[in-house]
Amino acid sequence: MSRSDVSPTFNRPSVEQAELVVLDYGSQYSLLIARRIRELGVYCELMPATADVSEIAARKPRGIVLSGGPHSVYDDGAAGLPEGLLDLGIPVLGICYGAQLLAHSLGGRVASAPSREFGRAEVLLEGDSPLLTGVESNSVAWMSHTDHIVEVPPGFEVFARSGDGLIAVIGDGALFWGVQFHPEVAHTAFGRDLLRNFALDLCGCAGDWSAASFIENTVDWLRTRIGDRRVICALSGGVDSGVAAALVSRAVGSQLTCVFVDNGLLRLGEAEQCMDVFARHLNMRVVKVDAGEKFLSALDGVVDPEEKRRRIGRSFMEVFEEVAPTLGDADFFAQGTTYPDVIESAGDSKRHSSAAAKIKTHHNVGGLPDTMRLELLDPLSFLFKDEVREVGRSLGLPEEIVDRHPFPGPGLAVRMTGAVTRERLERLRRADHIFISELRAAGLYRHTAQALAVLTSERTVGVLGDARTYEDVLALRAVDTEDWMTADWSRFSHDFLATVSNRIVNEVPGISRVVYDITSKPPATVEWE
Ligand code: XMP
Repeated sequence: MSRSDVSPTFNRPSVEQAELVVLDYGSQYSLLIARRIRELGVYCELMPATADVSEIAARKPRGIVLSGGPHSVYDDGAAGLPEGLLDLGIPVLGICYGAQLLAHSLGGRVASAPSREFGRAEVLLEGDSPLLTGVESNSVAWMSHTDHIVEVPPGFEVFARSGDGLIAVIGDGALFWGVQFHPEVAHTAFGRDLLRNFALDLCGCAGDWSAASFIENTVDWLRTRIGDRRVICALSGGVDSGVAAALVSRAVGSQLTCVFVDNGLLRLGEAEQCMDVFARHLNMRVVKVDAGEKFLSALDGVVDPEEKRRRIGRSFMEVFEEVAPTLGDADFFAQGTTYPDVIESAGDSKRHSSAAAKIKTHHNVGGLPDTMRLELLDPLSFLFKDEVREVGRSLGLPEEIVDRHPFPGPGLAVRMTGAVTRERLERLRRADHIFISELRAAGLYRHTAQALAVLTSERTVGVLGDARTYEDVLALRAVDTEDWMTADWSRFSHDFLATVSNRIVNEVPGISRVVYDITSKPPATVEWE
């Protein structure tokens, strides 16, 4: 291995121009705003509300969106507008807190309502505005606020009110706009129209950002960055690492070597399928390491979830150390970090730190051994999950890889409470396979964001023929979510759940009871461990 420095930050196409910048004031919907704008074909990035105006201007945006946030503009320490933001001469759209902040900063007045307005509200239009072109009066919007604008700044007009007379949309008719509701959430029926009016008509964005243009730019960037050097990529079987590898392969072909570690903690048929797709169909060089024994013995008797993760991480590292000499001289390590990973890892400061950069590595391969001083490549770190899927499709990855639900790096080890044994893994694998196959057969797989089976360490009494049994309880979990930060349990029909449960207790020895997890996140997490 050569010894180039480890990149201290995410290594991705240099500070890209973003057509729109969303300033994040702490709303749970901030990422969703960025996503909705991207869905319009407008490349947009989230930046912290504390960003310096010069950093924002460096992205050369055509417009700015101010997100909502938990504060009141009158709170001590509430984030204000970056100094000079309103002098950039580009349109600004404030959403909820963002609208109040804009109004307050320009001489309007904000007041606290006696009670919090939360939920659906009607929006009644007053006069015409380019922001609301195509929107019908009496449309439904989603509100969530206590403060609201009571007086518009000089030169502003009210363009809509809520059913109970509160100001819902304001604007100066040219550059500055504010909406009290949340256009980014699905309950605001006309939200997409409003964001399109802002992005395309008021800001003049082209709306031509697509998977194809992303691939073209990223492949160019990768070729320049990598030159004639070599790249390693660890495939996990999941969509992120698969798409990252396929992109690098498109850029530099045989300079890429993929490593696929079968840690014995994968789902039924996953290792074979991964080799089939990447090595045989996509013709990539994939070194498969059968390390199931090693991981199983490292996990022997371990029941604590964090200890399981630590040991799995360490084992990945050891496997990499062993396999490194066979991989040839490489300078880069490509990984499938995505945009939410970047934002989430960067924490409050929303800045990319070296600690943040390690997170995905840790999740996926347990970190790289110190002896492998490789520079990280994160070609997907601008993309949301569904954009990664779109890019994967455009690169020719098969649907069964592209539409796959997320699967944790530590695999089935964290989908069983209690000890990890070969027998328990086999039991879980079979039950999981039945659940997932039935979801696919019923056309439900794509209607749920993530579905999984958990082998609990509970045993309960059952009956089989005339005999009593004392066997495992298996839990099924499926969630609807866009961002995995919050999630709700998927409402499958009772008949569907009955089919899955019957098959599992009949076909998988050792399981005599199936339960369905009906807890949202928060307070529960998606995984059980
Ligand atoms: P939780 O359980 O935290 O899961 O609600 C949110 C998402 O993260 C995935 N997850 C992991 N992914 N390594 C991973 O690569 C992990 O240790 C890990 N733990 C949770 C989980 O599957 C879900 O998609």
